[in-house]
Amino acid sequence: MTTITQSVQLDRRGRVAVLTVTNPPVNALSQHVRQGLRDGLAQAVTDAGVGAVVIVCAGRTFIAGADITEFGKPPKAPGLHEVLEQIEGCPKPVVAAVHGTALGGGLEVTLACHYRIGAKAARFGLPEVKLGLLPGAGGTQRLPRVVGVEKALQMIVSGDPIGAADALQHGLIDEIVEGDLTAAGVAFAERALAERRPLRKIRDLHDKLAAVRGKPEVFVEFRRSVARQTRGFRAPESCVKAVEAAVSLPFAEGLKRERELFMELMASPESKAQRYFFFAEREAAKIPDVPADTPAKEIRKAAVLGAGTMGGGIAMNFANAGIPVTVVEVAREALDRGLGVVRKNYEATAAKGRLTPRDVETRMGLITGTTDFNAVADADIVVEAVFEEMPIKKDVFAKIDAICKADAVLATNTSTLDVNEIASATKRPESVVGMHFFSPANVMRLLEVVRGAKSSKTTVATAMAVGRRIAKVPVCVGVCDGFVGNRMLHLRGREAEKLILEGAAPHQVDKVLVDFGFPMGPFAMGDLAGLDVGWRIRKGKGLKSAVADRICELGRFGQKTGGGYYRYEKGDRTPIPDPEVEKIIVDAATAQGITRRHVPDEEILQRLLYPMVNEGAKILEEKIAIRASDIDVIWVYGYGWPVYRGGPMFWADRVGLRTIRDRMLELRRASGDDLWTPAPLLDRLATAGRGFVEA
Ligand code: 3HC
Ligand code: NAI
Repeated sequence: MTTITQSVQLDRRGRVAVLTVTNPPVNALSQHVRQGLRDGLAQAVTDAGVGAVVIVCAGRTFIAGADITEFGKPPKAPGLHEVLEQIEGCPKPVVAAVHGTALGGGLEVTLACHYRIGAKAARFGLPEVKLGLLPGAGGTQRLPRVVGVEKALQMIVSGDPIGAADALQHGLIDEIVEGDLTAAGVAFAERALAERRPLRKIRDLHDKLAAVRGKPEVFVEFRRSVARQTRGFRAPESCVKAVEAAVSLPFAEGLKRERELFMELMASPESKAQRYFFFAEREAAKIPDVPADTPAKEIRKAAVLGAGTMGGGIAMNFANAGIPVTVVEVAREALDRGLGVVRKNYEATAAKGRLTPRDVETRMGLITGTTDFNAVADADIVVEAVFEEMPIKKDVFAKIDAICKADAVLATNTSTLDVNEIASATKRPESVVGMHFFSPANVMRLLEVVRGAKSSKTTVATAMAVGRRIAKVPVCVGVCDGFVGNRMLHLRGREAEKLILEGAAPHQVDKVLVDFGFPMGPFAMGDLAGLDVGWRIRKGKGLKSAVADRICELGRFGQKTGGGYYRYEKGDRTPIPDPEVEKIIVDAATAQGITRRHVPDEEILQRLLYPMVNEGAKILEEKIAIRASDIDVIWVYGYGWPVYRGGPMFWADRVGLRTIRDRMLELRRASGDDLWTPAPLLDRLATAGRGFVEA
């Protein structure tokens, strides 16, 4: 065994040289990996006793891509291109043996090899698009030559990996192997030598490109099919252009074109935001005083209280992760209705081909409904999702406190109530935590884990761990009204209402946010969610909202009643501006003595987003969020903030905190509204010329 660099070893197994990469955690292609591959290969080539080379990885995965931490820094030799060229040009067969995930630059390494084999559970993908990039080391040129243009477009533009069976079917790998991977790689190489198999260079394959040459409609159709999901992103179109280049240009020129497009993307604000977000998401898993080795409780059984809008979705999350879950309701009809909705949801997914009918039954089989509270006795975690009323919550928590086993985690899905007060209804407030899911709970990825004043570290660690296990992105937040997401959303909503009174139309306000990159604006969102929810909350708190209250008084609760801020044709969700609503707005403005005017789009954007940024600053100062990037994760996963703008705090840094602060002061002067008073943290950072994210 020879050590080539700190992360690459060379080993001889008979006539086969084995290059093993060990660069934990994910074997990213750091400089020493590239150098190790280059130098190790060079040694194998000069060694007359070596007939073939196998590249494998130690640890949990094959190479998962370029080392993202090197991006934006001066390049260090050797470049990946140089290494790949050397692999492809190697006079002896090179075999990649893949386990775990071969992603990005990792898959590109395999594509430069002459043969590829994979473990059964191996996955193969080019996820660069998710970082706002394109595969920049030949992936856009080689992949279509192997799997065909349509499959390559789909893989490169979605960024989603495929499994070994799919890879085999599309010719991306030559064999699926079982057992010891290195041994299988060596055996494959031996066979290639014995059979004198040719050095198969992907760059020289043409058939699959020829099949679409002169058929521009393939690209037209593909662009059309992804237009909706890729709206606002820059990278997907560059990915398509690079694949087009693979078809229309010779290999070397195609590579050049790929490089140009890659460099453009690397310098783009979208990619900078998406790369920032990649790390932000991983940071969110870290809680400074609850280190990764904090013991979390094992969750074998869960219980959900309430089978309403949220309870059903939450139960689905557990079932989807294979965790048996008991759903407790007060009345049989409510239970049947709730579980009926769950079944309908699963069946709708099956109808789209994303679940088999058997999966539906397996998942339904993991969900048990009951009206007997005693059924929670053996649950390791209970998530309460009953009516949003403090006396009911306290009653329920006192009840489960008496029934649940001593080490169970008791979680509440409350969105507006004080988690500490709910915890006080039990004799074990250390076991109580908020788990704030977002609607629809089976779809939305965000989970705010609300740490109560007395929540123990184990309780918090368990909520975070189970959150990840049920495929959510958990972010730890503190107790305050609305937690992080809704607290900021509330300010946006308040300003949106003022804007329509001052003269903007609901559809103008919505369009400004849609153009910014949100899937929808506040008014269309209100119509979708149901305006009666907020109306009831306002009534409970003695609050008023001139336009929204009037709309609700007319029975316009949104899409479900055929009208809200907009009107809707039967069976169609398209919002149509409604003169009746305009009249309500004008009347309300007149009653309040507001002179309506044209409100420019730029003002709308500032007035909707700056108060959110300001609230984010307060949230940080109050330590409700651990770090600015956590707020960004919450907004991207919970509220559709466009990831290519990083999140509100990252975005604010780009706009410049001084610009935001000064504009807020201007708006305060003009309106006299204290909403525009800059938070002390915003003010300090603006004065210091700093940002939230690097603060
Ligand atoms: N570079 C540097 N660090 C990376 C990395 C990468 N490519 N991929 C993951 N890491 C780090 C993470 O930041 C994390 O660090 P932390 O523990 O300090 O927070 C650690 O590795 C473990 O990562 P995960 O928590 O994500 O581990 P999982 O097991 O959940 O997932 C994974 C593993 C599927 C490999 C996932 O990490 C992943 O998707 N990584 C990114 C893959 C990717 O985007 N590759 C393309 C890179 S761009 C490229 O290759 C350009 C080329 O075309 C030229
Ligand atoms: P819902 O009204 O749809 O469902 C509540 C269910 O709880 C009803 O089916 C009711 O029969 C049941 N229930 C009432 N008292 C009960 C008790 N004592 N024991 C067992 N079941 C009982 O309400 P929804 O929307 O599901 O909200 C539930 C909780 O989730 C609330 O705390 C709410 O604030 C929170 N939440 C709601 C969101 C939403 O968008 N709807 C988003 C995030 C949190």
